[in-house]
Amino acid sequence: MKSENTVWHAQSVSRVMREQQKGQRGKVLWYTGLSGSGKSTIANAVDSKLHELGKHTYLLDGDNVRHGLNGDLGFDDAARIENIRRVAEVAKLFADAGLIVSTAFISPFRSDRDYARELIGVEDFVEVFIDTPLEVCEQRDPKGLYKKAQAGEIKHFTGIDSDYQKPANPEIHIKTAELSISQAVEQVTQFLKI
Ligand code: ADX
Repeated sequence: MKSENTVWHAQSVSRVMREQQKGQRGKVLWYTGLSGSGKSTIANAVDSKLHELGKHTYLLDGDNVRHGLNGDLGFDDAARIENIRRVAEVAKLFADAGLIVSTAFISPFRSDRDYARELIGVEDFVEVFIDTPLEVCEQRDPKGLYKKAQAGEIKHFTGIDSDYQKPANPEIHIKTAELSISQAVEQVTQFLKI
């Protein structure tokens, strides 16, 4: 997608030059899972670990991005698609900057995650499925949102009256019921061979 009457400018500093300066390759860790599944917690813990190891990183978190860049979007299907399209574009720019970027969004639709994978490039895209059963998320209900959704106070709530399509083949599958947070972090860093 591009705007009319625009021409792409070549830039002198390339992705490879930025990556060489940082001594790392840009990547996107794309976390997906239900609200309350632990995406933000695990993504934040992995991000901290990578930072500690001297990596250059950035974390894009759903709730935070929806306070700014995507603050104009709601939660119907079209808004979620646009949310993920913008996040995929931003993540692509950050990877191009040479950063290891983590995105923590429900990203409930398979076609949107596949779109992000294509846009960013399969070799730099790591889908991390935070697999927490709906019943557990409902029990935890850290923000009290499941309770509100069940009472009909929130419409289109993921897992209640809006779909969550599980990843078929994620690069990393984290079953949170069986792991501690540090074990989940370990699973990601082992995959990254860091
Ligand atoms: S996504 O589906 O478009 O990827 P995103 O990750 O940005 O969602 O935002 C999800 C967060 O918004 C949830 O963790 C929750 O705090 C809040 N939220 C508010 N309304 C809804 C809703 N209808 N469905 C899911 N999450 C909601």
